[in-house]
Amino acid sequence: MANKQFDVVVIGAGPGGYIAAIRAAQLGLSTACVESESYADPKGEIRLGGTCLNVGCIPSKALLRSSELYQEAQHGFQMHGISSEGVKIDVATMVKRKDNIVTQLTSGIKSLFKKNKVTLLSGHGKFIGRENERWVVDVNGEQVEATHVVVATGSKARHLPGIPVDNVIVCDNAGALSFDSIPKRLGVIGAGVIGLELGSVWKRLGSEVTILEALPDFLAAADAAVAKDAWKTFTQKQGLNIQLGVKINNVSVELNGTPSVTIDYELGEESRTLECDRLIVSVGRVPNTAGLGAETIGLEISERGFIVVDHNCRSNLPNIWAVGDVVPGPMLAHKGMEEGVMVAECIAGQKGHVNMDTVPWVIYTHPEIAWVGKTEQQLKNEGIEYRSGQIPFAANGRALGQGDTTGFVKMLADSKTDRILGVHIIGANASELIAEAVAAMEFNASAEDIARICHAHPTLSEAMHEAALAVDKRPLHF
Ligand code: FAD
Ligand code: NAI
Repeated sequence: MANKQFDVVVIGAGPGGYIAAIRAAQLGLSTACVESESYADPKGEIRLGGTCLNVGCIPSKALLRSSELYQEAQHGFQMHGISSEGVKIDVATMVKRKDNIVTQLTSGIKSLFKKNKVTLLSGHGKFIGRENERWVVDVNGEQVEATHVVVATGSKARHLPGIPVDNVIVCDNAGALSFDSIPKRLGVIGAGVIGLELGSVWKRLGSEVTILEALPDFLAAADAAVAKDAWKTFTQKQGLNIQLGVKINNVSVELNGTPSVTIDYELGEESRTLECDRLIVSVGRVPNTAGLGAETIGLEISERGFIVVDHNCRSNLPNIWAVGDVVPGPMLAHKGMEEGVMVAECIAGQKGHVNMDTVPWVIYTHPEIAWVGKTEQQLKNEGIEYRSGQIPFAANGRALGQGDTTGFVKMLADSKTDRILGVHIIGANASELIAEAVAAMEFNASAEDIARICHAHPTLSEAMHEAALAVDKRPLHF
């Protein structure tokens, strides 16, 4: 029987892959998307949406919201004159709500595939060769042929040698999103994005949280002023115990009786031991290229395991493209989605590009942290002359009304041209506020452009307006 043939086969249905497939189909290309059983439901039914929808962005934000409400009900209501004694949390209900959101969204992708006429092929996808100018991909024993293949196989949690992850006691992101109870003592290895977000969830619910970080600097990728403010808030106000510059020597797990984990580590000259009930290992992610048949067809993979691509996500082989976490760049869902659109449009003969300089970063702690563009330390290192405007939320009427005045907005603009080079926010709703800065930077706007835009009053966005005015040393409310 002849193999099934498509214009485009996408391998992987995470944000990079499902978006590439939908956009390719919208452009009139016959398109299939291959997804393995990685996130299948208990009945074995394939779940789409990849890491992001199943064990990443979406479930983590659902738990962050539940834990925020719990904390607010316990400690935030009193100032409004609302009493809230006896507030309780039922972890099973909280986790079920999160699971329901995941189910709703993952099945939503199936509907989007149907609507856009994307064929879903269930199984592990693997290159087996090239015939008549078409790539041949094996999907669980069935062969399909495609003119173009988009690899969007994503990433998985990096584990540490000698620390086996069972996702019950020692967890990566998957297990840490589904604890069945609140651990009294939670250990976290890695004070990156996952460590801080999930550490915050369980801290708010009542765990004593200790985060062990190898680097001597906290949030080294963020603007130093933001990192300093975040450090103060997380450690002093919220009670996260974060230890920097540690070296993990040994982790042992005791499963008899009440399970516990013992971590032996060094802090400077000192040898220390941390005992905890559960451990989250969040030390970064590695690209998924194993079992893809890359070596069979000569697809170039870098030393660090990423598929090597050009600025349009073209691999070294004709008509093989790769997007998302499996290629270099920030491992962020929105970056993968942008690449997915770009690749589909390039395949359809259009032009496309992704501006990596305006990809925003968000950390969904409380306060939230968001930034786009260069940090102050990067500008200094690169010898770029800049002007800076910084406005605290304490000077913003809406923030005061909301009872949430932590943090600030900082805008950095080129001294000569006034073009915005970076915007850094720590504070409530930073994840939403950053969109204005992204739009401004995408259109090469100046600080003066933002200063001259009418911002609704009273809103948190006025802090962005004031920061732009502050670049020119003429803030009106500070
Ligand atoms: P993935 O989402 O990893 O999807 C790849 C898919 O390919 C998977 O479904 C996998 O099963 C499938 N696959 C792999 N190999 C094969 C094969 N050979 N055949 C068939 N199928 C295959 N990013 C944000 O932007 N915002 C956030 O708030 C955020 N929060 C996160 C929270 C956590 C806890 C984690 C872990 C990540 C978070 N991320 C967040 C990162 C985000 O999830 C990833 O950047 C994004 O999912 C990458 O998309 P992708 O399509 O490249 O890969
Ligand atoms: P990360 O790269 O953000 O942080 C990992 C941290 O672990 C680093 O600070 C690193 O120095 C530290 N580390 C590494 N090895 C260590 C060791 N042996 N001992 C102690 N510390 C060690 O990675 P994380 O948190 O695992 O998240 C993975 C990726 O997922 C992120 O980089 C991001 O791309 C994505 N993500 C995005 C989110 C968002 O956009 N809000 C939320 C969560 C994840």
